[in-house]
Amino acid sequence: MKEKIVIEGGNKLTGVLNISGAKNSAVGVIPAVVLSSGTCIIKNLPNIKDVIYLKDLLVSIGAKVEVENNSTMVVDSSTIDSYTVDYELAKQMRASYYFIGALLGRFKKAEVPFPGGCDIGVRPIDQHIKGFEALGATVTLEHGIIKAEAKELIGAPIYLDVVSVGATINIMLAAIRAKGITTIENAAKEPYIVDVANFLNAMGANIKGAGTDIIKIKGVEELKGCEHAIIPDFIEAGTYMVAAAATRGDVTLTNVIPTHLEAISAKMKEMGIEIHEYEDSIRIICDKNPRAVNIKTLPYPGFPTDVQQPMSVLLCTAEGTSIVTESIWEGRFKYVDELKRMGAKVKVEDRVAVVEGIGKLGGTSVYATDLRAGAAMVVAGLIAEGETIIGNIKHIDRGYEFLEDKLVSLGAKIKRVKVESD
Ligand code: EPZ
Repeated sequence: MKEKIVIEGGNKLTGVLNISGAKNSAVGVIPAVVLSSGTCIIKNLPNIKDVIYLKDLLVSIGAKVEVENNSTMVVDSSTIDSYTVDYELAKQMRASYYFIGALLGRFKKAEVPFPGGCDIGVRPIDQHIKGFEALGATVTLEHGIIKAEAKELIGAPIYLDVVSVGATINIMLAAIRAKGITTIENAAKEPYIVDVANFLNAMGANIKGAGTDIIKIKGVEELKGCEHAIIPDFIEAGTYMVAAAATRGDVTLTNVIPTHLEAISAKMKEMGIEIHEYEDSIRIICDKNPRAVNIKTLPYPGFPTDVQQPMSVLLCTAEGTSIVTESIWEGRFKYVDELKRMGAKVKVEDRVAVVEGIGKLGGTSVYATDLRAGAAMVVAGLIAEGETIIGNIKHIDRGYEFLEDKLVSLGAKIKRVKVESD
């Protein structure tokens, strides 16, 4: 049986909502436990499919894993005895590629099927491979399996040709136990990088500069167990900020780090939306039509590509015409065709979308073409007149914890139903 999300639109979101742990941190931290010879306790994990897949993946290579309260994972990595990752598990998500760096770091050998994940355009991993090779590994692709092997990993300077979250984390993982010093230049600066580096340092690694564009890693021989809590998810928070404003609501999000949300808050303020920032919470109040703005997605601290899709739905309700430029993923406007079926007036040419503010959308059956596209459809459903039925919600379940419960608690009419097919 498949499932769909059904939304009866037109309700303001109001109230207080707790934000979960960050998916894109969790998917880096969980594979990193492979490098430890002890027991790691990871707290504040979001209860999402990607975390469950990664847990299964750890078990499949020999780790002992216990999950407590759906949010804490206790992993004993000392029993890991395989450097080969199962195809069925790897294809479920992008982050399975972190097992290349982690297994290479531990066994000097890794065999990981080419990763799956959201279809948002070509997703090369040449920068990851460039990094592994600089450390002394030989990397080949055979029948869809990435095979990496090294006699010895030796620290090296690595300059990334593109700013890549995945390559930065993967190279850190491979370099932690390499001999000597590795520097990653033009590194990504996303909060996930800092979170993974903090986790690795808590295990005994020596990483400096995470969060800047030069990261220095001094190889260590052994990593112990440790305890770590995942940072709040600024993409989940951004999605609810946008949903609150789109419904002309008044929502306070707790368990957030407001500085991580600065690019989103700044744009929303520019639109005339009230944003109040506190130490670890943020309040969004929108009681009138916002102004149109132009947005260009960029690596952190720029406007995050992962909030571009829901944000474009908010722009459909703004006064005037907005221009949205997607500079990270060329396939991230696929949801626009679905949005148009709800009445949106959006023209896409290459990586630019021109979004006309039209006020209302109309509910209909739509499809979640990827994770954040699914979130965009949810925001569209919340403001649409009538009923919106969203199919292919497996993508949404990969990244949003308790989505319907959270929205219901804010006053939305949203439910999940079983259906025969998407
Ligand atoms: C991570 O993807 C996130 N995924 C993505 O979130 C997010 O959109 C992206 O970072 C950017 O913030 C995970 O953390 C699992 P990149 P990643 O390597 O690491 C190019 C979501 O919705 N590139 O930073 O795969 C690439 O084509 C997901 O939560 C190369 O050219 O992204 C892209 O244009 C979707 N060669 C740009 O760099 C490489 O070797 C940034 O990609 C690697 C990347």
